[in-house]
Amino acid sequence: MAKARLQFICQNCGAVSPRWQGRCESCGEWNTLVEENTAGGIGGGPGKAAVRGRVVELQALAGETKSPPRIASGIAELDRVTGGGFVRGSAILLGGDPGIGKSTLLLQASAALAARGERVVYISGEEAVAQVRLRAERMGVSAAPVALAAETSVEDILATLEAGKPPALVILDSVQTLWTSTVESAPGTVTQVRASAQAMIRYAKQSGATIILVGHVTKDGQIAGPRVVEHMVDAVLYFEGEGGHHFRILRAVKNRFGATDEIGVFEMTGGGLSQVPNPSELFLGERNAASPGAAVFAGMEGTRPVLVEIQALVAPSPLGTPRRAVVGWDGGRLAMVLAVLESHCGVKLGPHDVYLAVAGGLRINEPAADLAVAAALVSSLSGIALPADCVYFGEVSLSGAVRPVVHAAQRLKEAQKLGFAKAVLPVQSIDKEQGETPGLVGIDQLAGLVASIAASGPPVARELMREAVDRRPTARRTGTTGSD
Ligand code: TYD
Ligand code: MG
Repeated sequence: MAKARLQFICQNCGAVSPRWQGRCESCGEWNTLVEENTAGGIGGGPGKAAVRGRVVELQALAGETKSPPRIASGIAELDRVTGGGFVRGSAILLGGDPGIGKSTLLLQASAALAARGERVVYISGEEAVAQVRLRAERMGVSAAPVALAAETSVEDILATLEAGKPPALVILDSVQTLWTSTVESAPGTVTQVRASAQAMIRYAKQSGATIILVGHVTKDGQIAGPRVVEHMVDAVLYFEGEGGHHFRILRAVKNRFGATDEIGVFEMTGGGLSQVPNPSELFLGERNAASPGAAVFAGMEGTRPVLVEIQALVAPSPLGTPRRAVVGWDGGRLAMVLAVLESHCGVKLGPHDVYLAVAGGLRINEPAADLAVAAALVSSLSGIALPADCVYFGEVSLSGAVRPVVHAAQRLKEAQKLGFAKAVLPVQSIDKEQGETPGLVGIDQLAGLVASIAASGPPVARELMREAVDRRPTARRTGTTGSD
């Protein structure tokens, strides 16, 4: 037997160190190194005799390919994110904060699949069978023939799975509770999580069952983050939601069998998660269009256009260093838009606190939101409400130019569908055939938009924004409208 070696393993990134250190040299996190006894666990272990390998067949890049066999869960929003259903024999990691609804989502998917005659095994390591039953009852899915067990030992789970008909789907909730007797570390440590996940993934490949591992994401690194498992699985999905909001977004951050930019939108109700097929309606639901500081952004999430309100509050700051707070967008990007407004558009935001939020708790990663953010900021500063039936999209460059973005036609179509008659967009994103459409305002400089917002307000507001109005670019197509 291999001699037991003492090692210190970072619970955040999985880096191995021979000594204890306060800070992990690999990921820079503090207090994450934990002593683990890894007899042959990591790196194959010491002292194995060299074995001569066999020759494997090398193949050409071109060749016959079959699309992977999939089982659709029947929950459209979930299937969209996985790329059309679970791929047989694949392993999926579902991450998310505790309480966000991972178990609920998976129980719902299990029930849907089981009801269609597939064998589905749900292993709960965190909740007792009674608790899972109670939840199923609440969701109205108790009748589905899901095979349920509360178990944490990988060996027992594997033996159970191998005993019956091969399952189509196995849920392991959660990976942090699994433990295998092949390694000596405590459950929840990186070594255990990695070894257990490995055993389950091997089972998936051999049996053709889809394995879904649930992983909690904790900030303080107490429980081994599922990060180490991310490299091992075929797909990583994150289930997110802002605290206080009842809708949830499922996002793929890695997918070997599909695109990673699709999102699925759900709403947490008293009876489980319900699908939200048209997210724009949800995100615009509570809109108060008449107030200054709000601009509707026509965004894209994967292949789907999503309209969402960007809210800004600009207020004089009592502090020497004004506050900048942002929810749902990138703080660095906000700083950039503020700087462009300040230096190219004559908008003085320096002595103001700036708060920016994406309504409803959506997180936007697209640079195309720049224009909507700028419009919301200017609107809040000047007190001039933007037209209620107008959407904004476009990327702003450091020079103050408005750059074209992709999928303009799709964004406009969604806006039109939801009753928006006007759009402010990069002039280069307007197609020739769209060029004459009323309500489309193409701009090529951010200053043009700012000036037209300022000019549309009452004299008091105009006075406040005088510098911006004075900078209004002359003889450009940009200046004409934008907010009248
Ligand atoms: P859960 O799926 O247990 O979260 P996770 O597995 O990610 O930790 O969801 C727990 C939360 O969801 C809990 O706060 C209650 C809420 N919930 C509902 O609002 N309605 C429901 O029908 C269910 C089952 C849960
Ligand atoms: Mg759970």
